[in-house]
Amino acid sequence: MRVLIAIYGWPHEGLHALALLLIGRRALRLTQTHVDIPPDLSDGQYVFVAGLPALVFWGGAALGLLGVLRAATVGQAILGLVVALVMSLGGVSTLGDIYLILNRLLVKRGPDDVQYMQSAKGLKMAEHKAFWWKTGIVYQIYPRSFMDTNGDGVGDLAGVASRLDYLEWLGIDAIWLSPIYPSPMADFGYDVADYTGIDPLFGTLADFDALVHAAHERGIKVVLDFVPNHTSNEHQWFLEARSARNSPKRDWYLWADADADGELPNNWLAYFGGRAWTFDDTTGQYYMHNFLPEQPDLNYHRDEVKQAVFDSLRFWLDRGVDGFRFDVIDRLLKDPQLRDNPPNPNFVQGRDNPTNAYLRLHSEAAPGIHDLIREFQGVVKAYADRVTIGEIQYFADPTPMIPFYGEREEHEMDLPFNFGLILTPWNASAIRAFVDSYDAMVPPYGWPNYVLGNHDQHRLASRVGGEAQARVAAMLLLTLRGTPFVYNGDEIGMHNVEIPQHLVKDPQGINIPGYTRDVTRTPLQWSAAPFAGFSSVEPWLPLADDYAVVNVEAERKNPTSILSLYHRLIAYRRSTPALTLGSYESLDVERDDCFVYLRERDQQRRLIALNFSAADRRLNVAAGAGASTGRLVLSTHLDREEPVDLSALNLRANEGMIVEL
Ligand code: GLC
Repeated sequence: MRVLIAIYGWPHEGLHALALLLIGRRALRLTQTHVDIPPDLSDGQYVFVAGLPALVFWGGAALGLLGVLRAATVGQAILGLVVALVMSLGGVSTLGDIYLILNRLLVKRGPDDVQYMQSAKGLKMAEHKAFWWKTGIVYQIYPRSFMDTNGDGVGDLAGVASRLDYLEWLGIDAIWLSPIYPSPMADFGYDVADYTGIDPLFGTLADFDALVHAAHERGIKVVLDFVPNHTSNEHQWFLEARSARNSPKRDWYLWADADADGELPNNWLAYFGGRAWTFDDTTGQYYMHNFLPEQPDLNYHRDEVKQAVFDSLRFWLDRGVDGFRFDVIDRLLKDPQLRDNPPNPNFVQGRDNPTNAYLRLHSEAAPGIHDLIREFQGVVKAYADRVTIGEIQYFADPTPMIPFYGEREEHEMDLPFNFGLILTPWNASAIRAFVDSYDAMVPPYGWPNYVLGNHDQHRLASRVGGEAQARVAAMLLLTLRGTPFVYNGDEIGMHNVEIPQHLVKDPQGINIPGYTRDVTRTPLQWSAAPFAGFSSVEPWLPLADDYAVVNVEAERKNPTSILSLYHRLIAYRRSTPALTLGSYESLDVERDDCFVYLRERDQQRRLIALNFSAADRRLNVAAGAGASTGRLVLSTHLDREEPVDLSALNLRANEGMIVEL
């Protein structure tokens, strides 16, 4: 049983806690706090705090009982009994407690874990066990390009299962699978035709169950990508909605007439080019889609839509998935009045992606989104130990990310994606400034996260310069305070694969030349064998021309490869509480092309020094580190481990290091 419990000040509260323990509920949610929550305290921890008033009252009850046992007369026994009863039972009769206990008994499922804790001053917390998604590392798999076992040139679930040994060796804690649901693949799975199935291209539900089982056996969690904003235009719901204007499902989607001039309902633009409205000939109205015409947006102002989507989530939760990555979760609500979007003042024609000509004020940012996200969170958190990861806008400034954590007692996403490291130029002082402000802004009841790449962005190695910089980036990602996300292939240093326009498959790249995401979605390079060991036939996207050298098999054998670096960094992070749960503090150094920070927990202290420049650097970090010497335990070059002088710390060009203090 996993319980986070606080025994608080007053006897009725203590009884309440005890009752919940006895009836086996796994969690107890407290609603007030009188103390500051330690920043690294995780829900899911086993905490026992005895408050002084509780001790006094329980002591009183014990004395009463003692009085009963040692009573010489009936009168003394009765007095003892009364004292014991009054002291211990009085509070349990409070209506609130009865309500809570009944609620637990009847509802059976409760909030995942206690988020908040109340404790009495001066008393100690015991035993620590943080949530897996706080201490763990998430590895994103793009299933189409991961591993093909049935020889059709497209990856599949059996392929993922066949590579679990590799993932276990790599040391990651969870896999997040990009969509695997039935789909016409207009947006390669982000157009879902059935939220509760598996596309035959990827396998069957039985394959999925087998994968989850096999992953769990290895201690690897499985997180699904879930796309709530839109379905495929071939989803049964949409087929019904578009069948007639009076279809009961008509307003599960957003429909509008042409305006008075016979023009489109408003000026909203779709992300993948063109307008956000498509005319439906059968019923003579336009339907709205923020992405492709094949991806009509759902109408979350309709309760049935929410309930149907929530049921789909429960379908997977009941099957044992460990959580969801929610696609564009911040964009589910549209302005019911369909007002025009205002022009984007920063937009430059010819320079910028034409989809950004207007600010998406009304087409995706209508009020109410935070309440809706909380409802999603509630559905998932009715199951123990699951995670919610929200894809929100790409913000270069942390401020707008923070509201998606929700309030102290009204949680939204566990991990609202932080794309700051993707948007910030590869420059030590800019990265430091971003990390400093983000780390400080994440609320104590929230948890940070960092992402360097995904299926929508250019490859890490191409974006930051090359493999040398990608190694420094890997050390950054795996030593910061926050859950790291690794995109499949980045761990072997895969780079963008240039794809001639006529071979582009991504609809965004077809509609808006120059913006294809295919470059980052090419097949994983497993070995130097034909088709890089990914498939027995020509894969659906071209392979990188360097796969004979840049591949898993070769890099596993090479102790200084970037893959070996990931392996070492992951192992080191996992075994070092200072890196998983410790505090973060950056240090001022004399060179602004270096980024140096401390991670610390209890007595464990680590210094991370990253040289972003192409020249050697010598730094004096002794004062900041509070030590004159340390031991270099991991260099991104993987060629040295040695004592170091912190007043003259030598970093080679593009070298990062972890120093034990
Ligand atoms: C998200 C996904 C992207 C997809 C889009 C529409 O941004 O990451 O791949 O195309 O949503 O679902």
